[in-house]
Amino acid sequence: MVKVLLLSGSPRAKGNTAQIMEECARVLQNHGVESEIMSLHGRSIEACTACGACSGTGECTIDDSLNEIIATLRTCQGFIIGAPVYFGTARGDVMNALQRIGMASRSSDRFLSRMVGGPIAVARRGGHTATLQGMLMFYLMNDMIVCGSTYWNMVFGRDPGEIWGDVEGMETIRRFAENVAFLVNRLHSTEEKRDIKY
Ligand SMILES: Cc1cc2nc3c(=O)[nH]c(=O)nc-3n(C[C@H](O)[C@H](O)[C@H](O)COP(=O)(O)O)c2cc1C
Repeated sequence: MVKVLLLSGSPRAKGNTAQIMEECARVLQNHGVESEIMSLHGRSIEACTACGACSGTGECTIDDSLNEIIATLRTCQGFIIGAPVYFGTARGDVMNALQRIGMASRSSDRFLSRMVGGPIAVARRGGHTATLQGMLMFYLMNDMIVCGSTYWNMVFGRDPGEIWGDVEGMETIRRFAENVAFLVNRLHSTEEKRDIKY
């Protein structure tokens, strides 16, 4: 069965981002796609130090549990990241994680190549589009396949649970998750493995 990693970038275990990841998991399951939800809650993800030690190994030398996320990603064919907007951009730990994951992939076997997915931004009022654009840079530079939806992947909400009041936002996310399932099933469900050579 094909599998998608859903990574919540919020420090809040049951916050809006986490709830959106659960909704994505439900949609994926309805379309025959397995998922695993991981969270940055309880983790403190440092910035890349440009040490270059991931070259060849694909593992990061910083001991802050990012390697657990990388190890899970290696078992997946899809990757969705959800980030709360902080001061108009993605929360710092989210970008730290994406940048280090990207370096680990690029400097080893390019495990991100042709993974299907995309980013989701959650905010009370503003900054969604800049946050999405920032996270898209990771996807587009790592040979990944990004899915669209009927609007940009942005949801409004401040306190945990407020996102359910954003009916259009949640519909957009459901359609995005359906599109990820649609693509990942067609691209990766055969015996033919991803051809990551480029
Ligand atoms: C430090 C900080 C900065 C924030 N900056 C913004 C912002 O720029 N724009 C906005 O609309 N909401 C902002 N928010 C609100 C969060 O994006 C919002 O509460 C979101 O739902 C949090 O997601 P979570 O429940 O998954 O943690 C900020 C919250 C915090 C804690």
